Amino acid sequence: MPLIELMRDSDLERLALERVVPALLARGFCYLDGLLGDVAGDAVLDQVKEMHFSGALQDGRLAGSASGVHRRSIRGDKIAWVSGTERGCEAINFLLNVIDKLISVCARRLGGKAIRERSKAMVACYPGNGAGYVKHVDNPNLDGRCITCIYYLNKNWDPKEHGGILRIFPEGKSYVADIKPLFDRLLFFWSDRRNPHEVQPSFATRYAITIWYFDSEERAEAKRRTRSLTASTLQQGSSSS
Ligand code: OGA
Ligand code: OGA
Ligand code: MN
Repeated sequence: MPLIELMRDSDLERLALERVVPALLARGFCYLDGLLGDVAGDAVLDQVKEMHFSGALQDGRLAGSASGVHRRSIRGDKIAWVSGTERGCEAINFLLNVIDKLISVCARRLGGKAIRERSKAMVACYPGNGAGYVKHVDNPNLDGRCITCIYYLNKNWDPKEHGGILRIFPEGKSYVADIKPLFDRLLFFWSDRRNPHEVQPSFATRYAITIWYFDSEERAEAKRRTRSLTASTLQQGSSSS
């Protein structure tokens, strides 16, 4: 039975409290399988494929300035940012609402963090040409991102043939966690240095939707830093001209 059929708010709350919160606190990551079920999951997949086939997905960007071939050797996905309110994104919007509800229940139990906002959704496709994403930390420098949520959309995924494993290297641990990007699977992990991770080379089209939830305080502090940096840059600019 898809988890979503359980999703009267009280059941969804139980899922968050009994599975997601304990796993995040103990291990720093967790995943739920069969989140939406085949019908709703297929509707999300169809919308993502439509974006892909219509050319809406563009090369993912790097924090630095690498481009072209070099970029692809670091990060080879194609992406688009969606809010969910766009036409043709109704199923994605439904997914975002489910994840928002889960996170809002978790948020109060995750050690005093204020988790009230999130990014838009990043729809991502690794085209299957062997590209992946080298080992990285999503938020190494306190940019405000607290929890990474990834919803996978790939049916009949065989890692031996298709690669595409998400490998997490939990900080200070001697093991790694290999997560297959399976259809209707929702993964959560801390976005900070606790969870370096990589996407191993993918040899089939690999779809996922990622959203990042913010710690409001860290986010506000990051924005203040950016503003004062911008202000001092402007000041330097005007005093030297
Ligand atoms: C990312 C990322 C992982 C995945 O986009 O930052 O790590 O499994 N994606 O798609
Ligand atoms: C999987 C899986 C191993 C694990 O991703 O399907 O079984 O339990 N991963 O971390
Ligand atoms: Mn990442």
